[in-house]
Amino acid sequence: MIIVIIGAQWGDEGKGKVVDLLADRFDIVSRYQGGHNAGHSVYVGDKAFVLRLLPSGIIHEGKICVLGNGMVIDPKAFFEEVDQMAAQGIEITPERLKVSSRAHLIMPYHRALDHTSEERLGNEKIGTTLRGIGPAYEDKAGRRGIRVSDALVPELLKSRIERNLAEANRVIVLYGREPLRSDEIYEEISALAERLRPFVCETSHFLSEAKKVNKKILLEGAQATLLDVDHGTYPYVTSSNPTAGGAAVGAGIPPHHITGVLGIVRTYATRVGEGPFPTEMLEDEEPVAQLIRERGNEFGSVTKRPRRCGWFDAVATRYAAELNGFNSMALTKIDVLDTLDEIKVCVGYEINGERIDTFPAVSLDLRQIKPVYETLPGWKSETLGITELADLPANARKYVDFLSESVDVEIGLISTGPERDQTIILRDSVMEGWFK
Ligand code: IMP
Repeated sequence: MIIVIIGAQWGDEGKGKVVDLLADRFDIVSRYQGGHNAGHSVYVGDKAFVLRLLPSGIIHEGKICVLGNGMVIDPKAFFEEVDQMAAQGIEITPERLKVSSRAHLIMPYHRALDHTSEERLGNEKIGTTLRGIGPAYEDKAGRRGIRVSDALVPELLKSRIERNLAEANRVIVLYGREPLRSDEIYEEISALAERLRPFVCETSHFLSEAKKVNKKILLEGAQATLLDVDHGTYPYVTSSNPTAGGAAVGAGIPPHHITGVLGIVRTYATRVGEGPFPTEMLEDEEPVAQLIRERGNEFGSVTKRPRRCGWFDAVATRYAAELNGFNSMALTKIDVLDTLDEIKVCVGYEINGERIDTFPAVSLDLRQIKPVYETLPGWKSETLGITELADLPANARKYVDFLSESVDVEIGLISTGPERDQTIILRDSVMEGWFK
């Protein structure tokens, strides 16, 4: 069985917790795109783990984790995270962690280029995480990237660094920065590549063999649907394909091997960085945004950037469900809304007075959108830690049903707090079947 888990909105939906919860019932957890763009927190007892590159499954003893070919890996960040986990008592060995030989490396000059590219855009900047993700994918698509397997051949690594850096330094210097030195980069990366060698694996074959012997595999998407380079709010997107189709390419598995797709949706929306966000709470709604930000701890796990907050957008989520083919959804952070008198849900858009029910492509349109809201009553009581659907306040249940109906996908799990056991699993849902 292979299940893909994908954020349905602009990221930070609480995938970390759900993957962590479900990892128990799976044998292998693999990522398939992105890099260490942003961090997410997983809370286990009194311990908090911040994961950026490694799949959340790594916290579970005995689970095998895979970094797939579709990823871009910063070897320095990789070992920082491995060492951090070791310091927190999680030993990571090559038996437990497999890194694709075909994944691309993020090099120090990619980080520098991420900065210059944002500087160049000025007011139109993307608001990237500045980790070099975009420039690494640019090199991949430009067929000059350095793959993990290349880094294991010293002469090849050296010549590729020299060639690529000559080009990168021109831009770096143009923007008034110090040029980087290829000998220093080579020294750093070749040492890290040697340390990486035991983890390197033909991960696509590994997953194929695992499937043959009926291992259960979870494919963990990073970022989210509306940040997808093809389907998101381009150009305010990341440079990879978090959507379900990307899972097959980025993990190197046949699409028809995927058993099901689980969407992670939060009871409200957030966005980090720039770009259109139709249901954003602005001006007179800023106090609600502030409340949600505080109650939901909506600040970057690593950068501490405050996230922009908005109401649940059923149009955008329906679009995500359609693109990914969600069979079920996990709804997170219901407890964050406990104190609100009223809760709005965007059920349609209006552009120039015309009503539309689909998600438009053009960013300009998205900025002119007037959301059409339905307002639901709040429940004004605590849902934190509830584990049975029957114990949810009536208005909270109505809200959950309303979201499910407006997206037209079942909700199989409701998260009522950051801890593993603060969860409701809905009986007889598609999702319950997968995770038995
Ligand atoms: P990049 O992925 O660093 O190139 O950033 C592109 C856009 O995606 C920016 O708006 C980032 O804030 C956003 N982004 C990247 N990773 C995440 C994530 O994990 N959660 C939320 N937003 C993200």
